Amino acid sequence: MPFSPRTKLLDWQPFRGEVNVRETLISLLGEAASTLSRAGFAEPRRLARRLVARALDLTPAELLGHPEQVLDEQQTSRFRLALDRMAGREPLSRILGRREFWSLEFELSPDTLDPRPETETVVEAVLRRVSDRRAPFRLLDLGAGTGCILLALLSELPAATGIGVDIVAGAMITARRNAAAIGLAKRAHFFVGDWGAALTGGFEVIVSNPPYIASAALANLPCEVALYDPCLALDGGADGLGAYRSLVRDLPRLLKPGAVFVSEVGLGQASAVAAILQASGLAIESCERDLAGIRRCVVARAL
Ligand SMILES: C[S@@+](CC[C@H](N)C(=O)[O-])C[C@H]1O[C@@H](n2cnc3c(N)ncnc32)[C@H](O)[C@@H]1O
Repeated sequence: MPFSPRTKLLDWQPFRGEVNVRETLISLLGEAASTLSRAGFAEPRRLARRLVARALDLTPAELLGHPEQVLDEQQTSRFRLALDRMAGREPLSRILGRREFWSLEFELSPDTLDPRPETETVVEAVLRRVSDRRAPFRLLDLGAGTGCILLALLSELPAATGIGVDIVAGAMITARRNAAAIGLAKRAHFFVGDWGAALTGGFEVIVSNPPYIASAALANLPCEVALYDPCLALDGGADGLGAYRSLVRDLPRLLKPGAVFVSEVGLGQASAVAAILQASGLAIESCERDLAGIRRCVVARAL
C-alpha cells in the first residue's frame, strides 16, 4: 500500500486504560490544555488545539465548529497517546511522523532531519534567480534528508529534474517515498553518496543544508532536537564548518559556468562559509536573511 501520512497514527498501540465512550472534542481540548500546562508548556491552549486537530486529522473548522462531537474509542486512544508523547517533549512532527514544508507534506523517519521553516529561505533564494520557471534545469541537493528542498523546488519548476544525495541510506528511502507521495518520482532521483563525489557535472542549481552545529555544542541542544534529529544531520565537526569544507571540493566540477550554489548556514556562519566558497573559486553573490532576520543562506556562482 502506498504511504499515506494519515495512516501513520493507526500504527500506534491501542490505549489500554479506561476509556470514556462519551469523550467529546471539547473535553479532549480541556484535557490536553491542562496536561500541557502541567508539563510546563507556554500557550497550552493553542498547542492543545493543534494537537487535537493534527492527531485526529481535523480541519480548524471541524475542530471549532462541532465542539460537542462525540469521539469513538480509537480516536480517543490516538489522542491520549499523542498527548502523552507531547507532554514528554517529543515534537508533534515526530509524533505524527510528518512535517509540512513549502506547503507540501513530508514523511519523516529516525534517519531524517525534521525540516525547519527557515530552510525555505534556500528555496526562495533559488526561485528568485530563475527567470524562466519552465526551463529544463538540472538540480542537485547535497545532504537531501527528506528531500524537502529538492522536492519543493521541483514542485515550482515543472520541467526541471533533480538528484538528491545523502550518506544515510534510510534517509534516501524516505526521500523516495516523499517524491512518490508528492507526485515527483519521475523527476527526482535519490542516491546514497558522500556529497557530490560520485557525480559528474552539468548542474544549473546546487543546493545544500549540511550539518553545521559545532560538535561541542551538540550537548547543549534542546532535547526536542538532540533526542529526535539524527546526529549525522547536525554535527558539523569541531567548528561547525567541516561539511562545507568537504562538499565544496566537488562544486567547481559539478556546477555549469554561471550556475548557482545556495547553501543554508547556521547563526553567525555566513561570512566563514562565504570565505570557504570563495577559496574554492566560486563568486559570492549574496547572503540572504530568513524571516527572523538571520543571515540564513549564502548564494554563490560558478565562474
Ligand atoms: C541538516 S540535514 C539537512 C536535510 C535536508 N536537506 C533538510 O534541509 O531538511 C544534513 C543532511 O546531510 C547528510 N549528510 C551528512 N554527511 C553527509 C555526507 N558526507 N554526504 C552526504 N550527505 C551527508 C545528513 O545525513 C543529513 O540528511
